[in-house]
Order: sequence, then C-alpha cells, then structure tokens
Amino acid sequence: MKRKITLGEFIIQQQTEYPHARGEMSQLLSALMVSGKIINKAVQHGGLNEGVLGASGDENVQGETQQKLDILANNIIIEAFEQRQEVCGIASEENEQVVVLEKKYKEVGKYVLLIDPLDGSSNIDVTVSVGTIFAIYRRVTPEGSEAILKDFLQPGLKQVAAGYIIYGSSTMMVYSTGNGVNGFTLDPSSGVFFLTHPNIRIPETGPYYSVNEGKMHLFPKQYQDYIESCKVPKSEKDSLVDCRYTGSLVADFHRSLLKGGIYLYPPSTFHPNGKLRLLYECNPLAFLCEQAGGKAINGEGRVLEMQPTDLHQRAPLVIGSTKMVEQFERMRGVV
Ligand code: AHG
Ligand code: MN
Ligand code: MN
Repeated sequence: MKRKITLGEFIIQQQTEYPHARGEMSQLLSALMVSGKIINKAVQHGGLNEGVLGASGDENVQGETQQKLDILANNIIIEAFEQRQEVCGIASEENEQVVVLEKKYKEVGKYVLLIDPLDGSSNIDVTVSVGTIFAIYRRVTPEGSEAILKDFLQPGLKQVAAGYIIYGSSTMMVYSTGNGVNGFTLDPSSGVFFLTHPNIRIPETGPYYSVNEGKMHLFPKQYQDYIESCKVPKSEKDSLVDCRYTGSLVADFHRSLLKGGIYLYPPSTFHPNGKLRLLYECNPLAFLCEQAGGKAINGEGRVLEMQPTDLHQRAPLVIGSTKMVEQFERMRGVV
C-alpha cells in the first residue's frame, strides 16, 4: 500500500505549483509545524513535567490569567521565528505589543504572523483538547524596515495562510493557503505529520450547536431565540441538534469543520463585542471555514471584511455550516 504523503512533502509540492515562489511560505509553515511538535510534547507530558501546569501568576493584556503553558507555547513560537528570515514581526495574545524580530541579516521577512499560542487555556490542567491558532499576512510596509502596527491591522480577507494545530486525542495541523483546507495527523512514533484529511469540506448543515449556554441570560435576545430554536425539531422527521461545548474554540471549531455544526460566541453584557479576539482567533478560523465552504459572521457582517483597529480587539463570532449560519441570519433579520 502506498504510504500517505507527509506535511513536509505536501508543502514542497504546493510550492512547485507556483514556479516564481521563493519558498518563504514553505519555510514559514515548516517552522509552525516544528513549533507545534514541541508544544505538543509539552502538552502531552502534562503533569509529568514538574512546574509546567497551572497559572503563571501573571495576567495578559486582556486581564486574563496566563497559564504557564500559554507562556511556554508563546516563547517556543517566537524563538522558532527568531532563527529565521520569513517573518518580520509577531502579534500574540500573550504580548501587549507587536514583537519585532531583529534579524542578523539584511533582508527581513515579508510576512507577519499573528498567533493564539495556546487556545483553551482553561482546559490545559484537565486534559481537554487545546490548540495553537495562526494567521499569516504579507506586510504592507516595505521590506527592510521594521514591522509596524499597520502590517498587522489588515482585514482577514488579506490572509495568505491560516490554520491551527490541535492537541487532542490525536494531534493535527489543519491549514489553508487560500486553495482549500487540508488536515495532517501527527504520527507520535515517527514524529511526522501525514495528510489524513485532504480537501476538507464542511457539511452544509450539521448535528451540533456549540455555545456557552451558561451565559445565555447575558446574550442579546436574537441569539437566545436562535439557541432556543436549535432545541425544537423543525418537523416530525427532523432530528434534534445536540449541544457540544468544550470551552476550547479550536476544539469546538474542529468538530464543526469535520462533522458540520455551528459555533457561537455572542456579545454579552460582560463582553459587548464577545470574548474572542478578531486577529488571532476569529479571522484565521473564518478564513479556514470559508475555504472549506462554510460561513463566518460577526453577527451582522462577514468577519473577514472587518477593518481591525486594535491588535487585541474582540468580535462576536457565528461560524460553521452555511445553512445553519444562514438560518441564524434569517432569524436575526440580517438578510
Ligand atoms: P484562550 O484560552 O486563548 O484565552 O481562549 C479561550 C476562549 C476560547 O477558546 C473559548 O471558546 C472561550 O474562550 C471560552 O470562553 P467561555 O468560558 O466564556 O465560554
Ligand atoms: Mn484563544
Ligand atoms: Mn490563548
């Protein structure tokens, strides 16, 4: 039997389809793959690694508790890109300001990287899936100069690649360079990612809705109405939609992507713009979702069309199977 293609082979294959490409994107994706393997090891070792689980004692810029693994994952990625040429700056959930990478060489990277180094922090200590989310843009300022905020505040439509690495019952890297979505599973014995989910298409509709219903009383009425409607069969033949919510966006999105479903993080009285961050949570997943044939809105318009104004700004998110998101839009009177 022919063995599956590896992620490394796939990246090179894609590159050769663009004869003028200089291979920077391939290098960049490889660096993310390696970072993912190192983070995976730390996540998998869990409680065996003395001093790696638990809160760090610090808060991030959003006033949220930082876990030790949040900081470790952030450092692993930044260190990986400090050694390389492709990226000129990194924006991270864990850093208030943009991290400008100082290069030893004259040429500095033409890309910027935006990351949620570890999504689902509250799940780290209890062995529920967590993940690394990334978005890549071409810088808008000239190569050779220092990256500035403007390079990072681009609408999601401008992403040249986006994806995530999910550390779950298996470890997968799922990404898109704007030409469909592919998923790779890490073989723990060889340490190699193999293409296991080629050309992922999200089902048009699905059996799950995913939302923190414990906060339902804080949501706008239109969201409450939609959530209630998920519990009512549309016809006698219609099966009920089940609720699934882990508290790790990356895990809830991954399930929706593969099985079909809808994920909602609504605005609330605590978080008028929702809790999720536009640049390194909503945008990369919206890009993947659209590339897989799904839909992502901020409750009103397309997530990818939003013009960001702040590195850590939040946005409501309704994402997943097209027919389910459209049903939400109809109920809200958006369309
Ligand atoms: P992070 O761990 O990167 O801060 O992200 C946590 C996010 C997201 O992963 C998840 O869907 C959401 O927070 C859960 O929030 P609630 O506990 O309010 O549901
Ligand atoms: Mn997150
Ligand atoms: Mn995080």
